[in-house]
Amino acid sequence: MARHGFQVNPRVAETRAEFLAAIQEGTWDVVLSDDSMKGFSSTDALRMLRDRDADIPFIIVSGTIGEDAAVEAMRAGAHDYVLKHNLRRLGPAVERELREAANRRMQRSTHAALQASEHRLRHAQRMEAVGRLAGGIAHDFNNLLTVILGFSEFLIEELPENEPTHRDASEIRMAAQRATRLTKQLLAFSRQQVLERRVIDLVAAVSEMQPMIERLIGEDVQFTFNHAEPPQLVLMDPGQFEQVVMNLVINARDAMPGGGRLTVFVDRTRIDSNHAAELEIKPGQYVTLAVSDSGEGIDEDTIDHIFEPFFTTKAPGSGTGLGLSTVFGIVHQSGGGIEVHSVVKQGTTFRVYFPLSGAVAADHEKESPQAGARERASTILLAEDEQGVRAFLEMALKRAGHRVIATPSGTEALAVAERSSDPIDLLIADVVMPGLSGPDVADRLKQRHPTMQTLFLSGYSSHSALPERVTADPGAFLQKPFTVEALLAKVRERLSRS
Ligand SMILES: Nc1ncnc2c1ncn2[C@@H]1O[C@H](COP(=O)(O)OP(=O)(O)OP(=O)(O)O)[C@@H](O)[C@H]1O
Ligand SMILES: [Mg+2]
Repeated sequence: MARHGFQVNPRVAETRAEFLAAIQEGTWDVVLSDDSMKGFSSTDALRMLRDRDADIPFIIVSGTIGEDAAVEAMRAGAHDYVLKHNLRRLGPAVERELREAANRRMQRSTHAALQASEHRLRHAQRMEAVGRLAGGIAHDFNNLLTVILGFSEFLIEELPENEPTHRDASEIRMAAQRATRLTKQLLAFSRQQVLERRVIDLVAAVSEMQPMIERLIGEDVQFTFNHAEPPQLVLMDPGQFEQVVMNLVINARDAMPGGGRLTVFVDRTRIDSNHAAELEIKPGQYVTLAVSDSGEGIDEDTIDHIFEPFFTTKAPGSGTGLGLSTVFGIVHQSGGGIEVHSVVKQGTTFRVYFPLSGAVAADHEKESPQAGARERASTILLAEDEQGVRAFLEMALKRAGHRVIATPSGTEALAVAERSSDPIDLLIADVVMPGLSGPDVADRLKQRHPTMQTLFLSGYSSHSALPERVTADPGAFLQKPFTVEALLAKVRERLSRS
């Protein structure tokens, strides 16, 4: 064999037990077997080998093998047979079989990689479709909720507090607020929340949350926070980061009803191109947030579905199945990725990767309009195609003392404004309307009303769907549904600019 340039490192097995030990202990490139040995045959040996590895070439080297036995051995999966008086054939046979075994291995791993990537693609497509559905539902509900919330607030204000109808109206408002939270989660999942991105240090952010986390998990769960040297900066919405941590922590707690260990890590990782493809992100530097529990784990059938909205294994009433879908949406909207590793009865680790930000942490406080700033009566032009929302807006603004011109479309708003000789202080317009969109109206009115401010409304706030002139200034945007208070605060803030 050495003559053929092989480096030979052989082991000889004469009995069944020796052969079994050899294939258990070592990794072999090729097995050369006599046809019949002490107490076992080449067919036995072949079977034992195939139970452990399907690829190792098996060549029978025999002085005596007859044609029938040879055919039978080949049928059983031997790759070749060489007669002892014709050993010249052995070297080429080994060479060929090693090559083919390598090919088989390569094919198998290519096939496995292909299957994994198909599986990922199907998963991504399913999430995409569910995301569109969820976003659409949230959009329609936000219009309805704006109306329900708005008018229940009017009722509450008008009805004397001691009347039962006052309480009824409060119940309606409370239910609408709960529904608002649900649609917010759906919007987060479909990556359509409007973000207030800032550079934040994840070590500091988790440290600040530590008391809250400890209260949440209770005394039976031991909490540890491990982290790399701060700061570990990422650019994202701080409120959203908190939601990610809370959802993961609550799930971990729920997986450990009898107590256990919860560990949160913040670390920095380089993601190479293979790993990046799996996570569907770009290769590069990431800050990792890992949440690890010693709980019940997630089985294989379940794990494929955990990020889908409304998927829950919890008892009715104790989980809505929106926690991880919210996390999934937020993470992807922040340019990050998420992966989960779980062993049943041992525990689960969720690992979230956020793109590392190069910027210096800036603690720019959000400018808030001064509370109690005196309200000035202003002229507000309203363009909203949903009748209920329009009626609510008109009423809320008029009650605050403004002059309101309400119109049902962009085209009509434009017509009214072009006729008006009085200045218009503020345009409040839905982003998406049939015909002229809110931003279109704003653009066309700039010349005639140069001091006019704008406020865009939408129940559907995908960054990709919203035109850039809307996302460029998050302050000029109000997400439906909103309360009267939020609306008036936004209006005050807009008007204070003119
Ligand atoms: N740490 C974990 N350990 C075990 N199972 C988990 C863990 N995290 C999530 N799961 C599984 O994933 C499912 C979906 O989680 P998700 O947070 O989306 O919804 P939920 O916790 O059931 O309800 P919600 O978060 O809306 O209250 C859970 O019902 C549970 O089966
Ligand atoms: Mg949850």
